[in-house]
Amino acid sequence: MSSITLSRYLIEQTRNFNTPADLRFLIEVVARACRQISHEVSLGALGGVLGSMGTENVQGEVQKKLDVLSNDILLEANEWGGHLAGMASEEMEQAYQIPGKYPKGAYLLVFDPLDGSSNIDVNVSVGTIFSVLRCPNGHNGKGDLSEEAFLQKGTEQVCAGYAIYGPQTMLVLTLGNGVKGFTLDPHMGNWVLTHDNIRVPEQTAEFAINMSNQRHWEAPVKRYVSELLAGKEGPLGKNYNMRWIASMVADVHRILTRGGIFMYPRDAREPEKPGKLRLMYEANPMSMIIEQAGGAATNGTQRILDIQPDSLHQRVAVFLGSKEEVERITAYHNQA
Ligand code: AHG
Ligand code: MN
Ligand code: MN
Repeated sequence: MSSITLSRYLIEQTRNFNTPADLRFLIEVVARACRQISHEVSLGALGGVLGSMGTENVQGEVQKKLDVLSNDILLEANEWGGHLAGMASEEMEQAYQIPGKYPKGAYLLVFDPLDGSSNIDVNVSVGTIFSVLRCPNGHNGKGDLSEEAFLQKGTEQVCAGYAIYGPQTMLVLTLGNGVKGFTLDPHMGNWVLTHDNIRVPEQTAEFAINMSNQRHWEAPVKRYVSELLAGKEGPLGKNYNMRWIASMVADVHRILTRGGIFMYPRDAREPEKPGKLRLMYEANPMSMIIEQAGGAATNGTQRILDIQPDSLHQRVAVFLGSKEEVERITAYHNQA
């Protein structure tokens, strides 16, 4: 078994690809925060962390105690080190300003502190998703950092990753040259490189979508899913299996492991919103990881990483995973 830890991997990245020391430090700090979140999640009822806060976040969603706790852990871990100009999160309406007493740095950190909240209380995998951008023109240390600084296309991400808190806790990471997976050794506290070159198979016979929304979907999605369901006798000529965990982190992790297509389309429930998932801290980091692993990610008509964001909490339709299937559903949209 490899004994390459996250720290050693990052040092090698600096040696081979000139990864700056402050970016390396940023990733180490995020990984440390994820280790702490993993611990809190694993305690469950013993830690008194299950259940709701009785509050709503900016999206009007009920906040779980662990949503808020995970958010606080990430903020506290990252605010003092001098590597960030600011942070933004699913759980905060506005950008988080680095307190004046701390130095500021070159990067912006955007995150979904706990993804899959609906699964926390039923002991199913959840995770943390994060994206790192450069702060445009740096931060001069004076005044508040504006929301505009964050509104960069996914192609501008310098790093994207997620931690999954499942039967094993893992950190999956890309710095723009492939995708690596590290497994947390809970006794030693180390992240150990266990998945050296994660690739998404180009073809698949597995799909993930919340079928209960079928009646609300747009025509191209209805057509595509009916073809998948028709199996060997249908136009696609093969049988497809279906999985839906309702934690994007867990569904994407499965796709990175054995292929598949993940879909959260826009639908007619809330016609003014282009889907449920958030561009900046769900779709963009996951799309960078999937592309780096040889897969594809679109909103049905356009590559997700090319979308120019216009707000921090903007939503987007998501089709990602094995290339051949993502290209098929994208073609169905473009024919419509
Ligand atoms: P979050 O818990 O951060 O709000 O995200 C939940 C998301 C995503 O993880 C998952 O794919 C999707 O919501 C599930 O939605 P449905 O409950 O509508 O299936
Ligand atoms: Mn989420
Ligand atoms: Mn969340």
